Amino acid sequence: MTLLWNRADLLAATSGHFPSASHADIAGTGVSIDTRTLQPGDVFIALKGENSNGHAHVAAALDAGAAAVVAHEPCGDDPRILHVDDTLVAMQDMARFARMRFAGRMVAVTGSVGKTSVKDMLRHALQACGPTHYAVASYNNHWGVPLTLARLPATAAYCVCEIGMNHPGEIAPLAAMVQPDVAVVTTVASSHLGLMGSIDAIAREKAEILLALPRGGTGIVPHDVTGAAYFRANAATAGATLWWAGTTADCTVQATDVKSDAHGSGFDLRLPGWQGHARVNAPGRHMAGNAMLALAAAHALGADMGHAVAGLATFHPGAGRGAMARVMHDKVTLLDESYNASPASVQAALDLLGLVATGRRIAVLGDMLELGAFARHEHVSLLPAVRANADIVFCCGPNMKTLFDTLPSSLQGGWTPDSRQLAPLVHAALRAGDTVMVKGSLGSRMRHVVAAIAADDAWVGQA
Ligand SMILES: Nc1ncnc2c1ncn2[C@@H]1O[C@H](COP(=O)(O)OP(=O)(O)OP(=O)(O)O)[C@@H](O)[C@H]1O
Ligand SMILES: [Mg+2]
Repeated sequence: MTLLWNRADLLAATSGHFPSASHADIAGTGVSIDTRTLQPGDVFIALKGENSNGHAHVAAALDAGAAAVVAHEPCGDDPRILHVDDTLVAMQDMARFARMRFAGRMVAVTGSVGKTSVKDMLRHALQACGPTHYAVASYNNHWGVPLTLARLPATAAYCVCEIGMNHPGEIAPLAAMVQPDVAVVTTVASSHLGLMGSIDAIAREKAEILLALPRGGTGIVPHDVTGAAYFRANAATAGATLWWAGTTADCTVQATDVKSDAHGSGFDLRLPGWQGHARVNAPGRHMAGNAMLALAAAHALGADMGHAVAGLATFHPGAGRGAMARVMHDKVTLLDESYNASPASVQAALDLLGLVATGRRIAVLGDMLELGAFARHEHVSLLPAVRANADIVFCCGPNMKTLFDTLPSSLQGGWTPDSRQLAPLVHAALRAGDTVMVKGSLGSRMRHVVAAIAADDAWVGQA
């Protein structure tokens, strides 16, 4: 197991102090902020949130084998407790320290949708090329990014970070912490529009990531991105190279002959200095686009492209992000898109439903959140995609009611105020041969619908 944190490095990184009587060294092999998942050897950082306080779990962390604890509230004088002024700041300091000693290549992924998908594709591609560290989940915010970096082994060859935002000003400090050699922007779309105000503001915010690139670094951005001028200007300011990615001949990164079916997507890829064919086990043009960006980033990092292409082929969409399953005694196909939703990702999921279904196409949609005053417009705007890709539509939540009410009655499966009430309605409507796609923002809790469908053993089905 790799040693991540010893006493000297913890002290140097954080300007904290151990109780004066303690001298024994520390062998931290991981970093944890949650005792429920803490592994023996982890350094436990006692973060304080609005509804939780890690300081209440310091004793449990030590009992569970924590190598050290980082704390800012009084919690005893155990020699393994590093006392700091602010544990979140200390974790960020540890992140910067770990980034500085890392000699490998760093890639950061941001964008309105597709960050985790591209991050995971890159992980698969890069792991085939060398030791790769990555965010274990969608860790893309003020604690997720520093936690990922604090866990970064100095000896890894590659590191993949996800950087997110839902308020202006969030990208720049996180990108400065990550110091990417390569930065990927997946999309600029209307996620979190209510908090950001306009697509233009979202583009300006995403473009901030390019300012963190070193001179000679590479930014990879879809060629049809909103606010292209921001990306161009920031790449120039940083002295970085900008690769525009798309399907047209004027793109630096060009995917051609893109084919997508129920089993996956394939395309020919042309990059500066490399060209070849690539395949990913993820249906949908949006997933082909994500794969194109991931391979372009791998190439910009200097990875062996033969290995990267082979590694990418082992990627499968994650639970809630397009994972497909046969459910109800193998009679129904479930497209689980329940993890989150924004206008762009619901569009993509509806296209996916149209692409993979062979029988009836059933869309189950919960509210898209964080759209503020734009909510009604963004929900109703889904109508053309719904009409093109679904035979029956079930909706829940007040925002989806606005879409549901505009549907022709032949498409209206049912509407309920929340997902718990919707689940039995959807369940009762399913028949053998159906494909059902479930999507909604995390707060809409569409997993209740997925659970009701996926857990059904008693169902006998009817042709
Ligand atoms: N390029 C894309 N265009 C549209 N939708 C996409 C794209 N890539 C992924 N999606 C869909 O968007 C949803 C979220 O995907 P993913 O988790 O990769 O995005 P994310 O940017 O990490 O989201 P979050 O902001 O919640 O971390 C999934 O349903 C996924 O299928
Ligand atoms: Mg994510």
